[in-house]
Amino acid sequence: MSDGPLFSRERTWHPPAFTPGYKTSVTRAPSRALVSFPPTLSEETGPVFDHDVLGPLDNDLLHNFAAPGESAIGQRIIVHGRVLDETGRGVPNALVEFWQANAGGRYRHKKEGYLAPLDPNFGGCGRTITSEDGSYHFRTVKPGPYPWPNGGNDWRPAHIHFSVFGASFAQRLITQMYFEGDPLIWRCPIVATIPSREAVEQLIAPLDMNATIPMDSRAYKFDIVLRGRRATLFENRPEGT
Ligand SMILES: [Fe+2]
Repeated sequence: MSDGPLFSRERTWHPPAFTPGYKTSVTRAPSRALVSFPPTLSEETGPVFDHDVLGPLDNDLLHNFAAPGESAIGQRIIVHGRVLDETGRGVPNALVEFWQANAGGRYRHKKEGYLAPLDPNFGGCGRTITSEDGSYHFRTVKPGPYPWPNGGNDWRPAHIHFSVFGASFAQRLITQMYFEGDPLIWRCPIVATIPSREAVEQLIAPLDMNATIPMDSRAYKFDIVLRGRRATLFENRPEGT
C-alpha cells in the first residue's frame, strides 16, 4: 500500500513487471524484493520549469527541425488536451514533452535500424507547458507504425511518447498515446501487458473534428489524468512499499 509520498501500483490497471509476451520485460523485471528509497530534498525542491524555457517552435514538430520555408512530411495533425488531477481540475505549468517516429515510422536515433527513411525536416521531439486551465497543444505529423524485434512480426501501433513533469524534477510520469481506429493497438504485445481494457482505452486519443484546422490539419484529443480512478497509465509510476 501507499507509504509516504510513493503510491503503490494499481495492479488491475498497471501491467505486472514480468510479461513474457513483451520479451524485454523478462530481463527488466526485478527478480528480488523491491527496496523503497524516500525522495531526497533536492529531488523535491529541484528545478521547476517556466514558460521562459520554451523556444517559439518547441510545440511545432512540423517546423522545429525543418529548414526555413520547409516542413515535415506526413499527415499534419494537432494533438491537444489537458493535464488533470484526480478531481478533474487542470494542472497549470506542467512541462509536457513528447517524442515520436516520423511519418514512415522511423526515429531519429543512432540505434534505430528500421529501413524507413529519415525525413530531413523532422526531428521528432518537442515540448510545451500547460496553461492556467491545464491545457496543452502541439502540431506534428502522424507517426507511422514500426516493426520491432519481439515475436518475429510485431508492429508498434502509431504512438506518441509523453513525459509530464510536476512541481519538481523528480516528479516525472511517462506514457504513450495511441490513435483512434488503429487496428495495431489490439495486436501490440506492449499494449497487451495492460490488464484493463479501460486503461488501454484511456491511452487512445479520439479524432476531434472540432479542433481541426480545415484544409490543413486534423486533431486528436488526449487528456492526461495524473491520479485517481481515471488516472492515465504511466509506465514509470514509482512503487511504494
Ligand atoms: Fe516508440
